[in-house]
Amino acid sequence: MSRLAACTIHDGVAVVTIDNPPVNALGARLRGDLFAVLSEVVASPEVAAIVLTGSGRNFVAGADISEIGRPPVEPTVTSIIELIEDCERPTIAAINGNALGGGLELAMACHYRVATPEARLGLPEVRLGLLPGAGGTQRLPRLVGAAAALDMIVTGSEIGARKASGIGLVDALSEGDLMREAIALAQARAAENGSHVAVRYREDKIAAAKRDLAGFEAHRDALLSKRRGLRAPQLAALSVGNALTLPFDDALAAERGFFLELASSDESKALRHLFFAEREAAKLDGVTKEAARAVRRVGIVGAGTMGRGIAMAFLNAGMPVALAETDEEALAKAIEAISASYAALVRRGSLSEEEASARRGNLSGSVSYDMFADCDLVIEAVFEDMALKKTIFAALAAATPAGTILATNTSWLDVNEIAAATDRPQDVLGLHFFSPAHVMKLLEIVRGERTSPAALATALKLARRIGKVPVVVGVGYGFVGNRMLAARNAELERLMLEGAMPTQIDRAFRDFGWPMGPFEMTDLAGLDVGWRNRRAHGKTAPVADALCEMGRFGQKTGRGFHLYPDGSRKGVPDPEVEKLIRTMAEEAGIAPRAVSFAEILERTHYPMVNAGAQVVEEGIARRAADIDVVWVNGYGFPAWKGGPMFWARKEGLSRIERFLARQFEATGSEHFRPSPMLPLLAASD
Ligand code: 3HC
Ligand code: NAI
Repeated sequence: MSRLAACTIHDGVAVVTIDNPPVNALGARLRGDLFAVLSEVVASPEVAAIVLTGSGRNFVAGADISEIGRPPVEPTVTSIIELIEDCERPTIAAINGNALGGGLELAMACHYRVATPEARLGLPEVRLGLLPGAGGTQRLPRLVGAAAALDMIVTGSEIGARKASGIGLVDALSEGDLMREAIALAQARAAENGSHVAVRYREDKIAAAKRDLAGFEAHRDALLSKRRGLRAPQLAALSVGNALTLPFDDALAAERGFFLELASSDESKALRHLFFAEREAAKLDGVTKEAARAVRRVGIVGAGTMGRGIAMAFLNAGMPVALAETDEEALAKAIEAISASYAALVRRGSLSEEEASARRGNLSGSVSYDMFADCDLVIEAVFEDMALKKTIFAALAAATPAGTILATNTSWLDVNEIAAATDRPQDVLGLHFFSPAHVMKLLEIVRGERTSPAALATALKLARRIGKVPVVVGVGYGFVGNRMLAARNAELERLMLEGAMPTQIDRAFRDFGWPMGPFEMTDLAGLDVGWRNRRAHGKTAPVADALCEMGRFGQKTGRGFHLYPDGSRKGVPDPEVEKLIRTMAEEAGIAPRAVSFAEILERTHYPMVNAGAQVVEEGIARRAADIDVVWVNGYGFPAWKGGPMFWARKEGLSRIERFLARQFEATGSEHFRPSPMLPLLAASD
């Protein structure tokens, strides 16, 4: 078996290269090999200095996440770090790519760091519900200062090498040949004989932070106030604070204790589940990356709410976009709105004028489909109307050469029926973006029964290019997300009539961890959207319909389920709505009663999980973990609960099943009919 770390000698400098594809994660085998190689190098009298580097696009992407939570296997990352840090000869990290988590901790054990400008550095552990567990919370503040360390560790965000060099994390940027420059630096430092100081002994930035403890605490509290209820950021901040108050070794021992606590926490288990689930969701049997076609130019039909957002998602990734609308006026309005969005970003300082004008320059439009002839993908985002969509797809198939992918952004409709309106269903699929499309991460890629592997491969590759999290789903009313959303919301009207007021229901959802409750969400999106939809399908929702008849469309009219006085975006309870609900309940002969938060959650979340089991049963979702990815990235399900299906296993599948069965017996409502798949989810990923 080949070794995952190897050493070569260059004029007295030992270059130790880590080679553990795909990302050089510090798994047990690599740690063993690295420890063995380093032990030899450190003991060799011929070695004047050591350069540590990675092969490929990564320096080291951190600990092996799949090993976290298991009993530690020697040698640990910490023992490797001690070996490097105790070395009397100068040690240099040549950072050739991502240095993340344990990877950056390894680099900080070295005396010096040289990086290519493309390298990314960070301690993203909080995103996995952890904190840096190999000295990161102690060494980073010594290099960059306590405030900058807090920023990086508590938010988990990465920085580029240029910024890293500006704050002292990187000593030199290598614009040319990284290895040559790292070896030259190693030789120069070796020649100086003993002037290098290990990071753990550097106290000047710690002393500076101690002089402004109040400033540190204010900064910490501001960061934590946005992360209430999450354990990992709290402990991470506490551990950085220890750097100012405890001796290095004591602070290190505390960090270790925090790491072990977090590694076995539900928060971390949930986030690690999502890490792997997101990567699994982007893979498809029989579909290789190589099959993807090039996409140079994207066409969009329909530039309303979604069409504009989708256009911006591509423009933001530097891709040219051609927009089509019904008439010149609608087209001009859409282009104007997109330009205005970019102008607002420039005013806020979050986009340079140069970048904004490059994005605007990539946008063109016409009322004719002729311009789509040189597009590799055309996305339809017109009204949710099957007849209209079929006409458009027939026209698009005629206007574009075979191989151009034709995608629909439909929320609910049958993609197979749409595909059948063309003479090449193999090129047709759904690309279901979520609103606002340039912000929301999720992309449901809907695979029709005739969609070709090449079209799917292209969509998957493109999704990553524009920064989306793709999940391939099958055809079915509302696909995965919207189908489950309908089930989650099915009891809301009934709950109100039984006595749970909108404010209370929203509060129960927020307490669960949702960024907003279902009524706040509806008020934001506009009640009229659902109302129009219900009327088109002969459906009713008594309370919501009554509000619409009163002209209460939500935030845009200042009144919906809640009241939005003086243009405020934060709703307050409206006694008029509560009175209306009570009157309607009385008319329906429903006696009001106190409804607990627990009951609200059971009656909304259990049917949602049940619908999740159904979509797995019907093959619309390939696995339960895909559903978790959909809900966390598209609907705001709290990531630290791992998604609805992960959460359901923790809640107890048999408990959920029993509840549903009881409710089904009592009410006969279909959303309560337990899916036979539900108990089987216990064994799924
Ligand atoms: N451990 C195990 N597997 C990892 C991994 C890790 N740290 N990082 C990536 N992988 C795997 C992925 O699961 C994927 O596997 P697959 O091909 O079988 O699905 C493969 O490597 C490639 O990953 P990506 O698809 O994400 O590749 P990209 O090129 O898009 O991104 C990356 C590369 C930026 C390094 C990204 O993978 C990433 O962010 N990785 C996680 C980094 C991280 O969180 N590190 C901290 C770990 S915890 C830690 O270090 C604790 C320490 O303090 C003790
Ligand atoms: P919208 O009403 O805001 O925009 C539709 C646009 O299509 C309008 O600008 C209209 O002028 C244009 N249009 C209509 N017929 C056209 C034609 N023949 N040629 C060119 N343009 C035409 O609708 P919205 O909300 O953008 O929805 C579009 C699609 O996206 C629908 O299928 C909807 O179900 C779906 N969707 C909507 C989401 C949302 O949150 N609004 C989320 C995800 C999907």
